[in-house]
Amino acid sequence: MREVFGTRPWREPTDTPAIISVCNFKGGVGKSTIALHLAQHFAIRGYRVLFIDCDSQASSTMMFGYRPDVDLDEEDTLYGHFHNPELLGVRKIIRKTHFHNLDLIPSNLRLYNLEYEIAGHMARNQSMEIIDLIAQAVDEVVDDYDVVIMDPPPALGMVSMAVLQAANSMVIPVPPSLVDFASTVSFIDMTRTTMKQLEQLAGRGRPAYNFIRLVGSRVDESKSMHREVLSMMRQVFGGSMTQSVMVTSAEIDNASSRMKTVFELEKPVTSHEVYNRCMKHLNEVCQDIEQDVLRTWASRAGGQI
Ligand SMILES: Nc1ncnc2c1ncn2[C@@H]1O[C@H](COP(=O)(O)OP(=O)(O)OP(=O)(O)O)[C@@H](O)[C@H]1O
Ligand SMILES: [Mg+2]
Repeated sequence: MREVFGTRPWREPTDTPAIISVCNFKGGVGKSTIALHLAQHFAIRGYRVLFIDCDSQASSTMMFGYRPDVDLDEEDTLYGHFHNPELLGVRKIIRKTHFHNLDLIPSNLRLYNLEYEIAGHMARNQSMEIIDLIAQAVDEVVDDYDVVIMDPPPALGMVSMAVLQAANSMVIPVPPSLVDFASTVSFIDMTRTTMKQLEQLAGRGRPAYNFIRLVGSRVDESKSMHREVLSMMRQVFGGSMTQSVMVTSAEIDNASSRMKTVFELEKPVTSHEVYNRCMKHLNEVCQDIEQDVLRTWASRAGGQI
């Protein structure tokens, strides 16, 4: 319909595609959940989206219907591309999904080997260039997309560094607990130091991030502790935090145990009330990030959705 009526929201060729890393080195904070819902949100709104699963746990790949270590070979992932970039070409590892306009580079356990193979490559060649492997892969195909979403592993290892080099924006999920808050501050600090070191060692420019957004994740507003930590986080991170938050919802848990996102559910698993509340929060978070993306596109001055 959008094609027929000429109302596709695609960027102009002069606008920079958003290459978003949904990251935090803390595990289980909701990175994959937010990354998947964001990707589907953009696809539903009519944008052209590429999702890159950069985590060898491959939980996002599973959500696209694959059994990562049964249905996929190492050549089907970024690992294959690393070993044979000329032969394979990054387009060979991109596959269509059940979502129109949402393509996927999947992952499986073998991708974990990249962690030490990248380190080995650097030591052997006395060069940091390999850290650009994901950036180069994205560069090859990014003209075909409006938004690229990357789901890195929960560690600041080699793959995560390669993801940070490839990204031009960051979404950082932070649950409102003191431990997660402290570890997110360390994550941001370590990321900054690492990027600086890379810059000095390799003499390259640090990626200029178009936006860095913190999103309150797994928030339970009925808990006074969550409300307190959230308000402290807002004081510390200021305008870098989205107004919207991802609430803890049984609907997300139920959907994910059915290998679906909440957007894919045909009907509420719990109750209409829980489902509607969850959808409201999901939509608000996704729209906040969409607005951040649109703000970076000159053709959409003002960033209005
Ligand atoms: N807002 C939420 N409400 C309820 N359950 C959630 C929510 N966010 C995430 N979960 C559940 O918590 C688990 C971990 O979430 P998720 O996989 O998104 O985290 P992650 O940060 O990607 O983890 P990892 O670091 O292992 O990659 C999943 O089972 C997911 O369904
Ligand atoms: Mg994950």
